[in-house]
Amino acid sequence: MRAVLPSGKDGSGVPRLGEVPDPVPAAGEVLVQNAATGLNRADILQLRGQYPPPPGESAVPGMECAGTVIALGTGVAGWSVGDRVMALIGGGGQGEKVAIPAGQLMPLPDSLEWAAGGAIPEAGLTAWSNLVTEGGLEDGETVLVTGASGGVGSFAAQLARELGAKVITAARDRERLERLKDYGIDTFVTDDEGLVQEVKDATGGKGVDFVLDLVGGRVLGRHLDCLRPGGRLVLVGALGGAQAEIDAGGFLRRRLRMIGSTLRGRSRAEKAELVRAFTEFAGPRLAAGTLRPIIDRVVPFERIADAYQALSDGEPFGKIVVSFP
Ligand SMILES: NC(=O)c1ccc[n+]([C@@H]2O[C@H](COP(=O)([O-])OP(=O)(O)OC[C@H]3O[C@@H](n4cnc5c(N)ncnc54)[C@H](OP(=O)(O)O)[C@@H]3O)[C@@H](O)[C@H]2O)c1
Repeated sequence: MRAVLPSGKDGSGVPRLGEVPDPVPAAGEVLVQNAATGLNRADILQLRGQYPPPPGESAVPGMECAGTVIALGTGVAGWSVGDRVMALIGGGGQGEKVAIPAGQLMPLPDSLEWAAGGAIPEAGLTAWSNLVTEGGLEDGETVLVTGASGGVGSFAAQLARELGAKVITAARDRERLERLKDYGIDTFVTDDEGLVQEVKDATGGKGVDFVLDLVGGRVLGRHLDCLRPGGRLVLVGALGGAQAEIDAGGFLRRRLRMIGSTLRGRSRAEKAELVRAFTEFAGPRLAAGTLRPIIDRVVPFERIADAYQALSDGEPFGKIVVSFP
C-alpha cells in the first residue's frame, strides 16, 4: 500500500510517500481502508525523529483515521466488514490501510463525512481525557481553554460546554478565535499581557476553576495566574516552549494544582476505556451536530507534504485533514 514512509532519527520533517507492506490485523484488531486522517503537530516531530511511535505501534505516522472495516482479526466482536468507523491509533494513519485494536474504534455517525471522522479522534480523546479523566471537570465550573482556535482547543471548548462548564477561550489571534461563535462559543480573551485581567473581568474578579493549557512554556505562569485559589491547570501542549518559569511562592499560597498528560503513550487498555467513555458521551452529540469538529482544509493524500507545510507555517482554524482516494 502507499504510505508516508517512516523516517529515521535525523528526519527532515518532510513526508515522503512510498510503498510499504499492507498491515495484517492481529488478534483483536480490525483492518480499515483509510478514507481520512487528521494531521497533528506530533506527526511533524515524528518525521523529524523527535517523537517515535510507542513500542509495538506502526512506524508510519498518523494518530487518527476514519474509514471502512475491510477485515477482522480473530476474536473481534461487535464490528463487521463494511462498518464506517473512526479511530484513535498509536500510528499508521498516513497509510492507505490501518490495523487497529478493536477497542479503539468508534462508529462514525451517518451524518458525518469522512473528513469529520478523520478530525475527531485525537482532538476528541485529548479533550475528553484531560477535561474529564485528568481534570475532573464538574458541571457549573468555569474553564479557560488556551490555544482554543486550533484542532484540539476548538473541540475541547465545545466539549467543556457540553459537560456543563462555562467556557472562556484564549488565543493570540482574536479574529480567528472569534470564529468559534459559529460553534456556540461566546467568551473570548486575548492571550497577551492583558490576559489575567480579561479573565478576572469575565469571572467577576474570581479567576477560573480550571485551565486546559495547550500552550504552556513561556506563558504557563500567566495561565496559572488566571486560576482562582485552589484551582487546577492541566498541561497538554508545549507550543510556548519546553521550559517555563512560575511563581512558586504564589503557587503554594494559592494552593494550585498542575497536572501533565499525554495520550499517545497510554496502554491500549487505557485508550479503549477512554474511547468507550468518550463515545458514550460524545457519540449522540456528534450525530446531532451539537459537537462539531472544525476543519480548516482537506488535502488529498498525494499532496500530504502541503498539509504538513500548512501546519508548520500557519495557524489553522481547527484541523487539517488528509483524504484518501
Ligand atoms: N498531551 C497530549 O496528549 C496531546 C494531544 C494532542 C495535542 N497535543 C498538543 O496540544 C497542542 C495543541 O494541538 P493542536 O492540534 O490544537 O494545535 P494547532 O491546531 O496547531 O493549534 C494551536 C493553537 O495554539 C495557539 N498558539 C498559542 N501559542 C502558540 C505558539 N507559540 N505556536 C503555535 N500556536 C500557538 C494557536 O492560536 P494563536 O496563534 O492565535 O495563538 C492555535 O489556536 C500541541 O502542542 C499538540 O502537540 C497534546
